[in-house]
Amino acid sequence: MKRKAGNALRCAIVLGLAGWMGLAMAQQAPAAHPWSDAKLSPDQRADLLLKQLTQDDKFQLIRSYFAGPRKPEDKPAPPGYIGSAGYIPAIERLGIPAIQESDAGLGVASSERMRPGDYATPLPAGPVTAATWDPKAAFRGGAMIGGEAHAKGFNVLLAGGTNLMREPRNGRNFEYASEDPLLAGTMVGEAIRGIESQHVVSTIKHFALNDQETARTTVDVRIGEQAMRESDLLAFELAIERGKPGSVMCSYNKLNGDWACENDYLLNQVLKRDWKYPGFVMSDWGGVHSAAKAVNAGLDQESAAEIFDKQIYFDAPLRDALAKGEVKQSRIDDMTRRILRSFFAAGVFEHPAKKAPIDEKANLAVARETLEAGAVLLRNQNGLLPLDAAKLASVAVIGAHADKGVLAGGGSSLVTAKGGNAVPGLKPTDWPGPVTYHPYAPLKALQSMAPQAKVQFAGGEDVAAAAALAAKSQVAVVFVQKWAGEDFDARDLSLPDGQDALVAAVAKANPRTIVVLENGSPVAMPWLEQAGAVLEVWYPGGDAGNGIANILSGKVNPSGRLPLSWPRDVSQLPRPELPGAGGGTPPESVDYAIEGANVGYRWYQSKNIQPLFPFGYGLSYTTFEHGGLKVDAKGGKVTATVTVRNTGKRAGADVAQVYVQVPGAKVRRLAGFAKVFLKPGEQRVLSIPLERKLLADFDTVKHGWVVRGGEYVVSEGRSSADLGAPVATQLAGDGTK
Ligand code: BGC
Repeated sequence: MKRKAGNALRCAIVLGLAGWMGLAMAQQAPAAHPWSDAKLSPDQRADLLLKQLTQDDKFQLIRSYFAGPRKPEDKPAPPGYIGSAGYIPAIERLGIPAIQESDAGLGVASSERMRPGDYATPLPAGPVTAATWDPKAAFRGGAMIGGEAHAKGFNVLLAGGTNLMREPRNGRNFEYASEDPLLAGTMVGEAIRGIESQHVVSTIKHFALNDQETARTTVDVRIGEQAMRESDLLAFELAIERGKPGSVMCSYNKLNGDWACENDYLLNQVLKRDWKYPGFVMSDWGGVHSAAKAVNAGLDQESAAEIFDKQIYFDAPLRDALAKGEVKQSRIDDMTRRILRSFFAAGVFEHPAKKAPIDEKANLAVARETLEAGAVLLRNQNGLLPLDAAKLASVAVIGAHADKGVLAGGGSSLVTAKGGNAVPGLKPTDWPGPVTYHPYAPLKALQSMAPQAKVQFAGGEDVAAAAALAAKSQVAVVFVQKWAGEDFDARDLSLPDGQDALVAAVAKANPRTIVVLENGSPVAMPWLEQAGAVLEVWYPGGDAGNGIANILSGKVNPSGRLPLSWPRDVSQLPRPELPGAGGGTPPESVDYAIEGANVGYRWYQSKNIQPLFPFGYGLSYTTFEHGGLKVDAKGGKVTATVTVRNTGKRAGADVAQVYVQVPGAKVRRLAGFAKVFLKPGEQRVLSIPLERKLLADFDTVKHGWVVRGGEYVVSEGRSSADLGAPVATQLAGDGTK
């Protein structure tokens, strides 16, 4: 496993961080300052405050310190930080609060080393939130994290993982949302909006095309302009429009030859010119390679340089570049203004982050409800699920430490939940570990689900014993796991530790076997045809045991739909090989032009390949009928109307997915969607606006989105591969952005 230089330090000996809570910097802005007037716009306020800053103040704001554990031989971090990823001291004379940055993709992150004794509520993995296809669920999750962060003294969250799941082996897919730009942009945008609603600045990351971890700090991603604008960059564009994050974190990789954090095309041309982004760009930890070049390309803040970069660029080298005229003073002012503007826009000055009580019960419910709405039922033979819990006499619970907890992904996003790691000591115990199980044991929850039943556990190491337990039980629930984490990719799609043999043996012993998957990305399932039911919960987060039990017992009707395509095997992928993953020489570059903008389901369509499960797929305990698709184009707005009816006997939610084939295109794109909850027999007419940028192509000559005149074929259905009769609509091309 390859690590970037500073990562080992995350595992270093802890400084005494006792009393960190008390050190939370929550300065009150003196009311008398002109920039304190909240009636002024964030821009006006930033301009007023900027005028008061000395050059040293400005240099202070454009560079953060690492606020995590460090080796004893390192210089101590400046006083006042809460243990976390980043810190900038307050400028007290002007009422500028200390900047306290925490990782927070899936909850306020902290390893047990970072802030000993502290804990937070873990949300389920990003794909769970995306699989809800419910923007409100994403907002609620974001607001929950934002609220906890604020109550711990943090005012910046390193959240908003938007990278497309272009590579199913990517170790960080569990931090991201989808392979589709509209779904990723919508759901991550809402999560960011939720965070910022709590007066906490959110990032969006990792900008851009950091779609694999193998060689992430060196790899040069090659892709053409139109392809990236219509895929990864479109996801960012939509999420930024919706979520208005105060900061964009540029990524480690190179893009077409230039490091992302000094990439003029990405930062100046796309982000700041085309998208008119008013916030600031911060580097990923160790992502800076220059002073003048990076600043002139649009980087506004260097993160944790003293630990992660080769040198501190945004101090002496930048001051030198300024003196030599390689960088203009106006740019230093612009960098600072952007940072201040984001703090004003989020209300950080009026609502300073400070220690406050946290409603843990309510927050755990947010996590559990996200799982309940985002778990995907992949298979359910002969109505095995839902279980009639009141009638169960015996249940075998097998594997994946289900007696202790549920798996979490590894790396900087790791949250320590109340109760800590339920299965300590699993390898790797250092970066990007420790492998962590959150203490929300499915075994206990399944026993409470069926109190009269004999619920017994088998670890699964002894396959014969597990099969014997399954054989004598009415039903077997097998938990399988695949740990994924930052800084490494999976070598392949297989389940580790002989779990395929375990599932096959258990399913053979008892056809009433339910497999629950805890994984970051799709896995191969050679035993699929033998399994009675399969439920995908990814890394299921807080209160997951109860969430899983609620779904298995039918208290909750599953309504998650896959936010990614599930390949049968790696031969179906654009790049069957991922050189360097799991060992070997990493590549210097990776060719994303192979599939270009046809990420995921669009790739499979273009090649006429049937994946194991298509994008958008997911079963329910009831049945739905979709019909009556109509498309209406008025005043530049295109709307699809469709009727969805619950034709079964249980209440449940379904997702209407609208795909469009634009003139000349071979593949369909998701252009709109809506989730609807229906009682048995109920029907609703849904009006679904189609996203204009999905009807358009990115024109690299006109440099913008162009809706071409011609015939648009619109289809609606329950997944990308289960669509009703298409409706053709003529659109007049407008050539506008
Ligand atoms: C990760 C970022 C994270 C940062 C700070 C980096 O290694 O790529 O996602 O926010 O560290 O912990």
